[in-house]
Amino acid sequence: MQLHAEGIEKRFFRKTGSANNFFAVSKTDFDLLPGAVTVLVGRSGSGKTTLLQMLSGLLSPTSGKVFADGTDLYSLPDKALSRFRSTHLAVIPQGLSLLQNLTVMENLLLPGSLYSKSPVTEGTALEMLEKLGIGHLAGVYPTELSGGESRRVAISRALLHRPDVLFADEPTGDLDDENTDLVLDLLQAEARRGAAVLLVTHEAGAERIADNVYRMTAGKLSCERSAHEA
Ligand SMILES: Nc1ncnc2c1ncn2[C@@H]1O[C@H](COP(=O)(O)OP(=O)(O)O)[C@@H](O)[C@H]1O
Ligand SMILES: [Mg+2]
Repeated sequence: MQLHAEGIEKRFFRKTGSANNFFAVSKTDFDLLPGAVTVLVGRSGSGKTTLLQMLSGLLSPTSGKVFADGTDLYSLPDKALSRFRSTHLAVIPQGLSLLQNLTVMENLLLPGSLYSKSPVTEGTALEMLEKLGIGHLAGVYPTELSGGESRRVAISRALLHRPDVLFADEPTGDLDDENTDLVLDLLQAEARRGAAVLLVTHEAGAERIADNVYRMTAGKLSCERSAHEA
């Protein structure tokens, strides 16, 4: 699935401070292609998460459009958009995202039970957890997990979904080097099986899996490296 954004921008209002009306993301076009890993870098507060959320159907742009294989995401009614997102897209969010009153395993099985494109079995879920070194935590509740363990559960949940487009917002921020390498390899494998992957990261090592690299600077997007130019 190809994701295409046309002239999207996001303006935020703040009640305090002098700049109470500003563009978190200035008008930009953007494409995510199937089979490619696109890496997005930039300083904290530069607008990376805002762009990711607009592209993933979570945050409606102030103006502009986002198309997924021709479907205009924000023209869909809420329910259809949420169904579309559950079927085709997966997000590894920057913050904590697990449901606290469900075990790790229940967190993994829930999305597939709501919209079963390819229902996830307990066996597959356990294999994924084991791949990420947290198989022993399947029956545990999220409050008992470390930051890095929670992150790996969220990563497992997104990967099990086999999305057409995968968005990862600083997924390795709280992981050690070994797990960081493992997660980068798994994201690259997602692209190799045909997914379009957007990876927001500060990880220098992410360059090795990047087909395209973009930089966000105070809301302005620029291309640093493109597969088409290589
Ligand atoms: N809901 C919001 N309302 C107002 N300002 C916001 C909101 N969300 C983010 N911002 C601001 O927009 C800018 C970009 O934020 P963000 O996209 O999260 O940056 P990054 O992910 O690059 O760290 C920041 O200045 C942030 O404070
Ligand atoms: Mg962010």
